[in-house]
Amino acid sequence: MAVEWAGLSPALLVPLDRSRTEPLRVQLESGLRDAIRSGRLGAGERLPSSRELARELGVSRGLVQECYGQLHAEGYLDARIGSATRVAAVAGKPAPGPVAPPERAAQLRIDFRTGVPDLAGFPRTDWVWAQRELCRRTPTAGLDYGDPRGSQPAREVLAGYLRRVRAAAIDPEHLVVCTGFAQGLGLVLAVLARSKVRRVGFEDPGYGEGETLTAAARAGITAIPVPVDQDGIQVDALAASGAQAVVLTPAHQWPTGVVLAPQRRHALLDWANRTGATIIEDDYDAEFRYDREPVGAMQGLGPDRVVGLGTVSKSLAPAVRLGWILCPPALAAEIAHDKQLADRGTPVFDQLAVAMLIESGRYDRHLRRMRSSYASRRRVLIEALAEHAPAVKLTGLAAGFHAVAHLPAGVDEQIVVAAARQRSVGLYGMSGYRASGATTPAQLVLGFGNLSERAIRSGVEAVADLLR
Ligand SMILES: Cc1ncc(COP(=O)(O)O)c(C=O)c1O
Repeated sequence: MAVEWAGLSPALLVPLDRSRTEPLRVQLESGLRDAIRSGRLGAGERLPSSRELARELGVSRGLVQECYGQLHAEGYLDARIGSATRVAAVAGKPAPGPVAPPERAAQLRIDFRTGVPDLAGFPRTDWVWAQRELCRRTPTAGLDYGDPRGSQPAREVLAGYLRRVRAAAIDPEHLVVCTGFAQGLGLVLAVLARSKVRRVGFEDPGYGEGETLTAAARAGITAIPVPVDQDGIQVDALAASGAQAVVLTPAHQWPTGVVLAPQRRHALLDWANRTGATIIEDDYDAEFRYDREPVGAMQGLGPDRVVGLGTVSKSLAPAVRLGWILCPPALAAEIAHDKQLADRGTPVFDQLAVAMLIESGRYDRHLRRMRSSYASRRRVLIEALAEHAPAVKLTGLAAGFHAVAHLPAGVDEQIVVAAARQRSVGLYGMSGYRASGATTPAQLVLGFGNLSERAIRSGVEAVADLLR
């Protein structure tokens, strides 16, 4: 069969078979019609000019013009003099918009969903400035495949920043830039699984049943829940569990918000040194601390035993998909190799854009602004609950942008969550983060990062009677 793909160039892909008796014009017409009907060409999408398409297909321009004319007459195409031929609005499925917002947000009037920073606070102007500068300045050779660990200048800036701000002990040679915590954890677990790690401890409450535990299962690793109390993970229970590694959030435990106590940090490192275990530190929101001394990253205390995972999902936005792995030297080469196999490296302009924001001081300025904005939102949450539901106790507020609301005795967490949803307010129970799924003690995890002060106030007012 002599099928040619019209436009092996990326302009438009329509199959033409010169061995068939069916005229080329008819083939082109039906190819385009099918593409529009199936939605492959969306409403409003621009078609190549008749001259371009004729050249690509090796047919006469007149043939393409005839074909466009026919489809225009049938209502499939819009053609206006002086502008490009496009798929007619009524004919095609709508072309995808820029980025569809998640449905959940659309359904709820006020959503106390956790884990989302103030998306409107994203420093768009700074980001555009950095990307434009990079695009202008990057030499042609810089567009080639690079080091899978990330661009050297970006790693240097990140390592310097993390040494300065998180007291990390990291050399850029052992830093691997990745696309966020999720990828970083997946890569690290896969490397550990190959070195016969079979049991990994996770904090309980912790990531819940979600993707993080699925990632462990995918790597062939059994996730062992280890209880967390007011001082963080219980190291004795971890040691007794037979885990060969642990994933934890020392600076601001997810989701209880407690800080890993200094004696626990030391006990944890002792355990790791004694048993050869690996500590995987999820340092996800430490930039935003309010009423305590900053807590350094554990990685700085034990760079040979601790893998540090960081992300800009909280400091900038989840959509940026950028993070880093601070690798113990013994694991660095293998993690870098897996990163190479996974995707040949993280988008270079994005790494460099974050590095430019850091170097220019814009990142610090953004963090200062966001810290003050989250601090105000946090204050509003405290005040609104004190006023409308004083029996609710809040904890875990020292950092980040979520808090734990302890419901009064006799209040059923699940009933509250369901009733709030009826009022178009999204609330989330702690049971979703507990390994056992237990609904007592009744607690809510309230995210306030992406809610305005007014939304926080009206959200609390809307559900206050349920919380009493
Ligand atoms: C506990 C915790 N760690 C890390 C992250 C960030 O993950 P990623 O960098 O893949 O966006 C999140 C996101 O919600 C989180 O809740």
